[in-house]
Amino acid sequence: MSDKVKMQFKKDASIRVTGTVDFVDADGNVVETKTDFSLCRCGASKEKPFCDGSHRDAGFASE
Ligand code: FES
Repeated sequence: MSDKVKMQFKKDASIRVTGTVDFVDADGNVVETKTDFSLCRCGASKEKPFCDGSHRDAGFASE
């Protein structure tokens, strides 16, 4: 299995992250580790920084 993390920009939707990522605070402490998740890029999610599907109702459009 590869250690590389893949970020896929989905058309009219989120950024799909495949792999395991450490979330680190300003002091360098790991506050959470997540595997395979989607990041919001429309700004409408109530679960930021994660996508909660709100981009559909927001009519988000992208390439
Ligand atoms: S991209 Fe899905 S809620 Fe923003």
